Amino acid sequence: MTWTLAARTRRMTSSAIRDLLKLTERPGIISFAGGLPSPKAFPVPEFAAACEKVLREDGQSALQYAATEGLPALREFVAASLPWDADPAQVLITTGSQQGLDLVAKVLIDPGSRILVETPTYLGGLQAFAPMEPTVVAVASDDDGIDADDLAARTGDGADRARFLYVLPNFQNPTGRTMTEARRAALASRAERLGLPLLEDNPYGELWFDAPPPAPLTARNPEGCLYMGSFSKVLAPGLRLGYVVAPPAIHGRLVQAKQAADLHSPSFNQRVVAEVVKDGFLDRHVPTIRALYRSQRDAMLAALGREMAGLDVRWNTPAGGMFLWLRLPEGLTATALLPRAVEKGVAFVPGEAFYAEQPDPRTLRLSFVTASAQQIDIGIAALAAAVRESLDAAPAARLSDRAEIL
Ligand SMILES: Cc1ncc(COP(=O)(O)O)c(C=O)c1O
Repeated sequence: MTWTLAARTRRMTSSAIRDLLKLTERPGIISFAGGLPSPKAFPVPEFAAACEKVLREDGQSALQYAATEGLPALREFVAASLPWDADPAQVLITTGSQQGLDLVAKVLIDPGSRILVETPTYLGGLQAFAPMEPTVVAVASDDDGIDADDLAARTGDGADRARFLYVLPNFQNPTGRTMTEARRAALASRAERLGLPLLEDNPYGELWFDAPPPAPLTARNPEGCLYMGSFSKVLAPGLRLGYVVAPPAIHGRLVQAKQAADLHSPSFNQRVVAEVVKDGFLDRHVPTIRALYRSQRDAMLAALGREMAGLDVRWNTPAGGMFLWLRLPEGLTATALLPRAVEKGVAFVPGEAFYAEQPDPRTLRLSFVTASAQQIDIGIAALAAAVRESLDAAPAARLSDRAEIL
């Protein structure tokens, strides 16, 4: 048999993170690598009660095929939770927000289409866009978010005009950074002037530690934005439920793409989630996740301060979410550090995977939510030991490079 693969498969790569997760499944490894929400935050008893109630009161519909757009009660809940006047008819329930990325890619990207992303950006976004064969252009970004002037320079013209900018303003994956109010205002008005649609991905926005982040970009111009959210980080990722909020012109196309992909997201899960959230449960539950994740972040910041002293390692202080971004001293790369770190019992994700264009090989992502505070202490000490050893080995490596050049 001769299997001829579609050309697009050349663009499909397995996620470096998923590959890494295999490595970190080895017993004894403390993993800061995966983006797994803390299982301590999963409301298991509430789900047990809701499952029982849904099956008892509504079992047959819950187990039947359903509308592609999603369960009306859940769409209404999503629309009501948004800080702008969203119509439930604009909400499409998706199989995780990851499916939202895939559907948007199918609806908005032709081969060669220019799309814009942050520097760095969510790897799963790059993976979802890649099979549609876009030209991915990275827009300059710093700790405060996207640089609107660089955005204008990269938007392109005519047939090469960017189809959208993919943007993660809150506690971004991978960096944990949050776009400031000033940058949001500048970005929203610049995008509107340029006629550039925004794809705003906000799975972490509710997981703030001290104060809520500024309003979403979509709230400033709902007609110019596609907005994506998820139940993964506020309830549980295994539900595979997220949503896209889209202007009418795009919504119908996303529904068609979803019909072809999976007909609809699981009816049972949608009913159970609608049951769990219906009486303000998230208002009580999400603060417990915030408190847990804030204490985990503080444990990691304290451990980094203690263990990395004198090593010229830099990191940020995320104001929410699950991730912290770290930069190694000159001469080291995160990819070369990883095997040494794993040998010492700790794993992370090298930052390189998250860049659409020139990567910064000194960066790496640490998740502070999956490991316990005690494991964080041990894991960061192991990471510091790996950095120290690599620094000690680095001059020798440079000498041998020089010897080869000579
Ligand atoms: C930025 C971002 N978008 C989307 C997703 C996908 O989330 P889900 O499909 O679980 O809703 C993730 C998951 O980690 C993410 O970090």
